[in-house]
Amino acid sequence: MNDKSALKQLIESDEFSNRLNLDRKTYGLVFDRRTLNAIYEVIKKYEIDYIDFPISSGKESLIFNVRLKSRQTRALKIYKMSTLKFSNTMEYIKGDYRFDKERINRSNVVYVWAQKEYTNLESLREVGINAPKPYGFYRNILLMSYLGTSRGPAPQIRDLQEGFNDIYEKLRKSMWLMYNKAGIVHADLSEYNILYYRKNPYIIDVGQSVSVKHPMAETFLERDIKNIVSFFSKKGVNCSIDELYNHIKGGIIA
Ligand SMILES: Nc1ncnc2c1ncn2[C@@H]1O[C@H](COP(=O)(O)OP(=O)(O)OP(=O)(O)O)[C@@H](O)[C@H]1O
Ligand SMILES: [Mg+2]
Repeated sequence: MNDKSALKQLIESDEFSNRLNLDRKTYGLVFDRRTLNAIYEVIKKYEIDYIDFPISSGKESLIFNVRLKSRQTRALKIYKMSTLKFSNTMEYIKGDYRFDKERINRSNVVYVWAQKEYTNLESLREVGINAPKPYGFYRNILLMSYLGTSRGPAPQIRDLQEGFNDIYEKLRKSMWLMYNKAGIVHADLSEYNILYYRKNPYIIDVGQSVSVKHPMAETFLERDIKNIVSFFSKKGVNCSIDELYNHIKGGIIA
C-alpha cells in the first residue's frame, strides 16, 4: 500500500500548512484524517485564501476566522468527529421530519450536523432574525459570515456590561419569529449562544435546533425560555418565564 497518499503529501507541503496557519504538530493533534481532507476540499471549493485565527475551540467544534481570495472574511466551523455523542445527537435528528429520512449512522452523523446548522441558519435569516449568513457546508464543516471586526469576534452577551433591556426586547421578538415564522426551537439558547454585533443580538449555534413538530420541541422551548429569563433577570431586566412563554405561544405579532 502506498502510504504516501495525496493527502499526506499535501499536509507535508508548505501550501497546506501556510493556508492553515498552524504548525504541523498542532493540526496533526487537532484534526483527524477525514477532517483534514474535508478542510482541503472546503479551501478549494470556497476559494479560501488562508485560515487566519482561531475564534473558539470547544468540546464539539472549532471555529476559525478565514480570509477568502476575494479578501472577504468568514467564519469556518469544524465539528469534531470524535466528541459528538451519537445517542445524544440522534435525539435531535430523529423526530425532525426535515432530517429523519437521511440514512444516518455513527460515521456520518457529524455530517448531518453541519447540514442541519446550515438549513437552520437559512430559515432564521429568511424570517429576518439576526444570525450568521450560511455560505455552504461540506461534510463536518460549515462556512458562515463572520460576526466581528478585524480586532476580534463579537462578544457573547454574557460578557457585556450594559444594554440588557434593549437586548432582551429584541431577543423576545427573535424568539417569537423563530417559533412562529421559522418553525424552529433553538434547543440550546443561552447567553453563550447569543453574540452582540452591530448593536443587535445575533443567534448562533443552531446545529441542534429542531422543528417545532419535533416530539421534544416543547421541552426544549421551555428550557430555552428558562435560560434566557434566568440570565436577563440577573441583569436586572423585568421579565418572567410565563410572560415570555405566553408571548411566544400566543402567536400575537411580536
Ligand atoms: N459566525 C461567527 N462569528 C464570530 N464568532 C463566532 C461565530 N460563530 C461562533 N462564534 C464564536 O465561537 C463560539 C462557539 O461557537 P458555537 O457556539 O457555534 O459552537 P459550539 O458548538 O457551542 O462550540 P463549543 O463546543 O465550544 O460549545 C461562540 O460562542 C462565539 O463566541
Ligand atoms: Mg455554543
